[in-house]
Order: sequence, then C-alpha cells, then structure tokens
Amino acid sequence: CAIFVLSCIFYDHNTVNIVLASSDNINPEDWLAPLEAALPGHQIRIWQAGQASANADIAVVWNPPPALFEHERALRLIFNLGAGVDALFRLPSLPDNVPIVRLEDAGMAVQMAEYAVHALVRTARQFDVYEDQQRQGLWRPLPSLDRTAWPVGVLGMGVMGARVAQTLSMLDYPVAGWARNTKNLAGVSSYAGAAQFNEFLSRTRVLINMLPLTDETRHILCKDTLQRLLPDAYVMNMGRGAHLVEDDLLALLDSGRLRGASLDVFSGEPLPKGHPFWNHPRVTMTPHISAMSLRRESIAQVAAKIRGFERG
Ligand code: GLV
Repeated sequence: CAIFVLSCIFYDHNTVNIVLASSDNINPEDWLAPLEAALPGHQIRIWQAGQASANADIAVVWNPPPALFEHERALRLIFNLGAGVDALFRLPSLPDNVPIVRLEDAGMAVQMAEYAVHALVRTARQFDVYEDQQRQGLWRPLPSLDRTAWPVGVLGMGVMGARVAQTLSMLDYPVAGWARNTKNLAGVSSYAGAAQFNEFLSRTRVLINMLPLTDETRHILCKDTLQRLLPDAYVMNMGRGAHLVEDDLLALLDSGRLRGASLDVFSGEPLPKGHPFWNHPRVTMTPHISAMSLRRESIAQVAAKIRGFERG
C-alpha cells in the first residue's frame, strides 16, 4: 500500500500537463484523442478561456487566443502545429523565455511541392488555355514547352523550400534557390544573402515564395522586387500574405508586366469579399491550403519531441 501511495505521488508529481489550443482549421476536439493515444500517462486537456489555469507544462497550439499565455504561466515548452511561427510572435502575451518548437515538414513539404508543380505546369504547359479551348470546342495543339524558358527561383530554402526546388528540378526546370546562406542541393543553383538577391531575381521567371515571415521579409514581394524578374513572370506565394504588397502585384498584373500569380496566403484571411483577387483573370487563389497540418504526422512528431524533451 505504501508503495502504491508513493508511486501515485511520484506519478502525479511527474505527470506532464499539456494544453491544446487552436483556432482556424485545426479543431482541438479532433486532435485530443489521438494526442492522448500517442502520449499515454500525460494529462492533456483542451484549453478554454474562463477556466482555471491548467498549470500546464506544455502548450500545443495553432493560432491560440492571446489569453492562453496570460493564464498558463508555468509553461516550459510551446509546440506550434504548423511551420510558421509568425502568429505566435504577434501575441504580446507570448513568454520570452519558453522554447518554441515548430513542425518540421510533417507531411507539409510534399504538399507544397505538389502545389508548386500544379501551378507551374498549369501555366507553362498551358493547361489553363486548353481548359478554355475545351469549353469553346477547339481542337488546337499549342507549341511544345521549352523548359529553359521557365527558370524557377525559390525564395527560402528550409525543409519545404528545398523540397519544392528539388521537385521542380527533377522535372527539368532550371531551378535556383535564395536563402541567407549558400545551400548545396543537387540540381539547384544557390544564391545567398542581400548581395545576390537581385542577381537571383534577374534570372528568375517563376518566383516561388517559401520564406518565413519576419521583419526582414515583410513586403519582400513588392514592385521593386517583382520588376526585376524576367519578362512574362509568374509569382507564387505560399509563405504569408504580408510578404506581398498586394497593390504592387495587381498593378504589375494589370500592366501585363507579370503573366499571372498563384496565391495561397493573403494579408487578410479569409480574403474579404469584393477583393480584386477573387475575380482577377490572372490570379489563381486557394484558401491557405498549400500545406495543411496533417494530424497523424504532426502528432507523431510532437509526441516524439515531447518524449525527447522528457528524456532531457
Ligand atoms: C501554415 O501556414 C504553416 O505555417 O504551417
């Protein structure tokens, strides 16, 4: 009995308290049971405003309400259920001294590669034109694709940017990547830092933004940058809406300087009704789905990292 009591105290003392808090397209109700199954012996609950503090050690979050960090003051670790941590950094209540762990790939890189392949191939192989021709009842083969005329430039060469760059390179498009430091990736030319930014842009026709949003990258897709691309350029934004100066993009599309754009992220989400992107003939848009957080893969990664944290 004494051993039992002691082990209960020990167990209770060591139980790691986890709170789950998210908004947008991650419903914490759907994530609770699989997270519990992946982390037996942990106390996991969904965080709700107005409830007493869970005295949580770990928060697993996606775009959490700011009040979470005001109430949970004992956190030792924060897991972000996505790749970008910009939404967390916008919260004034985010504690300074708690490490943040974000998802690394977790099934997102392949989705982004698919997105880029789809958007690039649709415009370069003119499948958009063939769709129109079908509707008009036209049987009209168009000239074949010259891949050398479609140099791709990927901004941001982290896990996801690298996957996008390598996938397009395997389809024989000339691909370059730009990052803070030189990268050594087979089939991908590397450009690094501010010194090589303009050179990177001037060899690029298809610009794919995969950067994280920071003070340095905000509005990086602006008139000055986009005008440096090769003629008839195409822009894909899979980073964050605030990377792009939307009015600059619209002006360059309307003047014909840019051929088109595929946009997955916007400065305001959901994109407000009546925004010019909705019906723009040169814009293809999606509702921030280029890489969705996959429950099974994300939970496996978070659980493995929590166990690693517990092992020290
Ligand atoms: C999605 O936008 C993410 O950051 O994972």
